[in-house]
Amino acid sequence: MTTVRVGVDPPYDIHIGKGLLERLPELVRLEKRRVLAVTDRNVARYHLAALAAVLDKAGVPHSSAVLPAGEAGKDLAAVRKVYEAAHAANIGRGDLIVALGGGVVGDIAGFAAATWCRGIGCVQVPTTLLSMADSSVGGKTGVDFRDRKNGVGAFSQPEAVIMDPSLLDTLSPRHAANGMAEVIKHGFIADPALLDLLESPSPSMEEILVRSVRVKTEIVQRDPTEKGDRALLNFGHTFGHAIESHYRYKKWLHGEAVAIGMVLACPDPRLPRVLERWGLPVEDPRLDPAVLIGLIGKDKKLIRGTLRFIRVDEPGKSRIEEMAWAEVEAMVGRAAAAAQERRKAAATK
Ligand SMILES: NC(=O)c1ccc[n+]([C@@H]2O[C@H](COP(=O)([O-])OP(=O)(O)OC[C@H]3O[C@@H](n4cnc5c(N)ncnc54)[C@H](O)[C@@H]3O)[C@@H](O)[C@H]2O)c1
Repeated sequence: MTTVRVGVDPPYDIHIGKGLLERLPELVRLEKRRVLAVTDRNVARYHLAALAAVLDKAGVPHSSAVLPAGEAGKDLAAVRKVYEAAHAANIGRGDLIVALGGGVVGDIAGFAAATWCRGIGCVQVPTTLLSMADSSVGGKTGVDFRDRKNGVGAFSQPEAVIMDPSLLDTLSPRHAANGMAEVIKHGFIADPALLDLLESPSPSMEEILVRSVRVKTEIVQRDPTEKGDRALLNFGHTFGHAIESHYRYKKWLHGEAVAIGMVLACPDPRLPRVLERWGLPVEDPRLDPAVLIGLIGKDKKLIRGTLRFIRVDEPGKSRIEEMAWAEVEAMVGRAAAAAQERRKAAATK
């Protein structure tokens, strides 16, 4: 097991290791506390019984709220469901919510914990690679409101995060690849050794997670409420968000769109190689560069003809740049030409 401390206020630990779900009672303070496990239907099928058994063995009273799976259910109705379950189980100030699931469950449960009784403890037990590498770390919680993604929410740090890579065994290959985009992003913005690891013949998931989590933790510590450096985590996201919303979140998963977005934003040929190795797309051949430019023009970060953009000059070296609009257009043009070259090279292989 590796423990990474997140030095925010209040600080908390991220424990990473296979089999850690069983060790939850050692890692989290549970005496005289009731637990409300929040999960979704898919995760409940695979992993809720194991969590319940661990809590039973430790003599901890517990109940659960099982939500519908997927982004469509990430709304205030889901938060209400958690409140109803908390009310029914008499969950009070000193008690604990355990979020057992992917980013959707983590964001809903984190927000419910931040607001129930004006805030109770929350332990994140992420079950997707995206939630391990990204959403369970950093204290952002919330739900969607109408067409506003994460429109309602709060910064609220968990008490602890328990990352057990064996929970990923039941994840679909597509969702496993989806989370790897954020890991690769962490490598490119801050840790070239993580990229070496991802290119090695059979890297351990535990080691990958430790390096990836250290990158996010280090940035979150510098900027817990997203006022400065945390923007570095948005590498690939300006294009990624535009692509996701263009298809109304139906064609690409978040990590897939970010993968395409990173390739658009950074000409390093290592990037598409690593992404493809981990089963991620590197372009959307059906998306015309002119359409893409139009989409970016609508992006909220466009201020007086410049765009706040994350540049990676070389793996591990990233910075925030106010980029002139003409440069954004040139960047998309260069990326389209590079994609054409890659397609040609692949066809002649
Ligand atoms: N809070 C943050 O900082 C932050 C950061 C990034 C993303 N997010 C949010 O995360 C969400 C996406 O998270 P996600 O990609 O984990 O999606 P998700 O939670 O919808 O999980 C993806 C799918 O996998 C299933 N699943 C989860 N764990 C499983 C397991 N171990 N075995 C089998 N199936 C499993 C889920 O039921 C779901 O169908 C978005 O809502 C996004 O806004 C939040």
